[in-house]
Amino acid sequence: THERRIAATLLAWYDANARDLPWRTGPDAARAGLRPDPYRVWLSEVMLQQTTVAAVRDRFLRFVERWPDVAALAAAPDAEVMAEWAGLGYYARARNLLACARIVARDLDGQFPRSRAGLQALPGIGPYTAAAIAAIAFDLPECAVDGNVERVVARLFAVAEPLPAARARIGSLAAALVPGDRPGDHTQAMMDLGATICTPRNPDCDACPLRALCGGHARGIAADLPRKAPK
Ligand code: ADE
Repeated sequence: THERRIAATLLAWYDANARDLPWRTGPDAARAGLRPDPYRVWLSEVMLQQTTVAAVRDRFLRFVERWPDVAALAAAPDAEVMAEWAGLGYYARARNLLACARIVARDLDGQFPRSRAGLQALPGIGPYTAAAIAAIAFDLPECAVDGNVERVVARLFAVAEPLPAARARIGSLAAALVPGDRPGDHTQAMMDLGATICTPRNPDCDACPLRALCGGHARGIAADLPRKAPK
């Protein structure tokens, strides 16, 4: 199918071009079936909720050096975690982070739930973050649709309907793209494509692995998508 071709082409691109980020395992490890540590995936996704990859990278490394696993974080004094969070902003995230760590450490035997619904029941984990952790840490066939992924999907399928009305359709198109094989890498490949090539302005369609499969590009409207309803 068209969806399978897109997913296969995207994964091949990701294998050669994945960003080297400290919460990921490398592509060789991923192909060998090794998954990243759920604690690191969870922490990175919470940090990335409102902060850029560039700003998160070093803060993430400091954080996991200080508290290498969920038990260590759960045992940390509130004030120390809040101080380490300083500068990342949105302190409710840090409070939820600690609440979540303590539930996982004390009630769940240190194991993050292996389902989107189970993850979403925890403090600070909404639908996007639950899907991201389920896919990236556990290779479950979920798709995390953030602004980057929304843009990539709107362009690939030439969704001309404006946001926010188009969101439901974009969500089902994104779900239909998720391959049975390596859904976690698929999610991260979508994120990387949106962040590095399929950018909001001046997308680099010449460098895009999906150019020949992109409906927006074929119609010459890729850069104008997704449209936004006037406020
Ligand atoms: N943005 C949010 N989650 C991300 C991830 N896992 N990798 C890169 N960018 C992201």
